[in-house]
Amino acid sequence: MIYYFSGTGNSKWIAEEMARRTEDECKSLSGEKTLRSIEDEVLGLVFPIYAWGVPEVVLDFIKTIQGKPSYTYAIATCGEEAGYAMKSLQKKLPLDACYTVVMPNNYVVGSNLEPEDSIRKKITKAKEDLFHMADEVKNRRKVVKVEEGTFPLLKSTLIHFGFNLAARTTKPFYVTDACISCGQCARDCPAEAIEMREGKPVYVKNKCYMCTSCINKCPVEAIQYGKGTEKRGRYQFRDLTL
Ligand SMILES: Cc1cc2nc3c(=O)[nH]c(=O)nc-3n(C[C@H](O)[C@H](O)[C@H](O)COP(=O)(O)O)c2cc1C
Repeated sequence: MIYYFSGTGNSKWIAEEMARRTEDECKSLSGEKTLRSIEDEVLGLVFPIYAWGVPEVVLDFIKTIQGKPSYTYAIATCGEEAGYAMKSLQKKLPLDACYTVVMPNNYVVGSNLEPEDSIRKKITKAKEDLFHMADEVKNRRKVVKVEEGTFPLLKSTLIHFGFNLAARTTKPFYVTDACISCGQCARDCPAEAIEMREGKPVYVKNKCYMCTSCINKCPVEAIQYGKGTEKRGRYQFRDLTL
């Protein structure tokens, strides 16, 4: 079974493609809290990199796994680089194979949307990666193909710590008059941080995973985060190479 976490669809697409290519099944790990025993079967994990680290929701999920899978692999999607995220994951979950796949950056809270050309190039390269990863997983190979980038130790320790401490606050989120009360943001929030009150989304928790699902998937771009997102585009996975 392949478990995935995904805010804007990149990791979901990779998980679905891996499932199709390795004749496996995939499932979202959001909300999975009960202990599960995985014995003698393949365990795959697909998730995005957050600030050169593994999202807290994924680390919580790992705690629910018991037993000894026959083969375990993890794929992290990232805009550019993962630092030592996979090394830190390996300490908590022994991995036979681990990969990073560079995908479009969805962090519109902190940076501009990538141009379509760059998105297309990344998806084209990701399809090549999928071809190799599926082959290696099917043949139970021991592989490490990780884009760690520059200064990985600094980024995956200090900066990742700072992100978890200070950058996951929901305070800067606000909803504009464009809101059509569809409830998509609340339904999809993996942190259950949004409630619909009198037809409008309200952030009821101080902290979330910062997955950007609410802001990127709002059909009318009514959700903003501080001033920065007002003039930025929005991202969610679409296969632009088709
Ligand atoms: C809060 C946050 C932090 C991120 N940090 C990194 C990072 O450290 N390195 C990187 O290359 N990409 C980073 N990204 C980009 C995502 O990892 C990338 O776009 C990922 O494919 C999104 O996956 P998803 O669509 O499944 O949510 C970050 C995105 C978010 C939302």
